[in-house]
Amino acid sequence: MQQFSDPDHLRTAARGWRREGRRIGFVPTMGNLHEGHLSLLRRAAAECDVALLSVYVNPKQFGPQEDFANYPRTLAEDLALAASAGCSDVFVPTDATIYPPGFATSVTVAGLTEPLCGRSRPGHFAGVTTVVAKLFCLVVPDRAYFGEKDYQQLQVIRRLTADLGLGTEVVGCPIVREADGLAMSSRNRYLNPAERAAAVCLSRAIAAAQRVAADGADAAETILAAAQIVLARQPLARIDYLELVNPETLQPLARLDRPARLILAVQVGPARLLDNGPIEPAESKPGPLLSLS
Ligand code: PAJ
Repeated sequence: MQQFSDPDHLRTAARGWRREGRRIGFVPTMGNLHEGHLSLLRRAAAECDVALLSVYVNPKQFGPQEDFANYPRTLAEDLALAASAGCSDVFVPTDATIYPPGFATSVTVAGLTEPLCGRSRPGHFAGVTTVVAKLFCLVVPDRAYFGEKDYQQLQVIRRLTADLGLGTEVVGCPIVREADGLAMSSRNRYLNPAERAAAVCLSRAIAAAQRVAADGADAAETILAAAQIVLARQPLARIDYLELVNPETLQPLARLDRPARLILAVQVGPARLLDNGPIEPAESKPGPLLSLS
């Protein structure tokens, strides 16, 4: 596995790959890799000639009261796991090379960044889109792989890539979960055993909403209430937001008249956990048969 820390060296290597006609698959991460990240890397390795991982804990996407200082940094383990998942190249930049003195540019996406996490984490998405735009300009990937775990982020990156005509295909990948349903996340390690047990309420809330929708409920209120009941039973969980939204625009839906997404952020102890899942309208049941005379 080739490792780069200097952006200029990476740019030169990426130019070479393109010249040779090699397809570049890119997986940007903040490290502390788990099976969720590795699923993206495996897919990049299977679909592209180069599977490039970046590991960079991006200070611009953390608020002043957030966990930037404590965010887990486990580079040695990350490199070993990445190699085992078929990663060919790794970029581990420093703050000084990503944001050199005088750095004054911010890339922002309007609209999609405003609801949900945009409301609770002002400035977060501008930090994400600025660093992702910078990384995409450096690498010019053919494909870039993002998890549905961060569903709003995925939609924001799709918008960014389309609007700037970056030519990269953004590939959304399914959420990888623990055996009990908890979505894998680097932040799960902040949970003590009682909080870890409580954290399963997010995926259970989604499952409850999916069940009432499958049973025919189509008012957002009813579907959200099914999820709320599950979350309210868990004293260690505090809802930040819980919404039923249009999967592309992320605008709230009043009725389930099309496939929707249930998205939630829940504080469990020290960790703010995210999860989401598809909510499908019930199969349209055939009405009573017409009696033909
Ligand atoms: P990070 O949280 O490290 O996540 C990197 C990628 O892994 C994201 O695309 C995320 O959605 C995906 N991922 C995380 N957990 C997952 C899971 N359980 N199943 C599937 N995919 C999962 O997201 C970021 O970093 C940053 O915001 C970044 C895009 C790198 C910009 O700094």
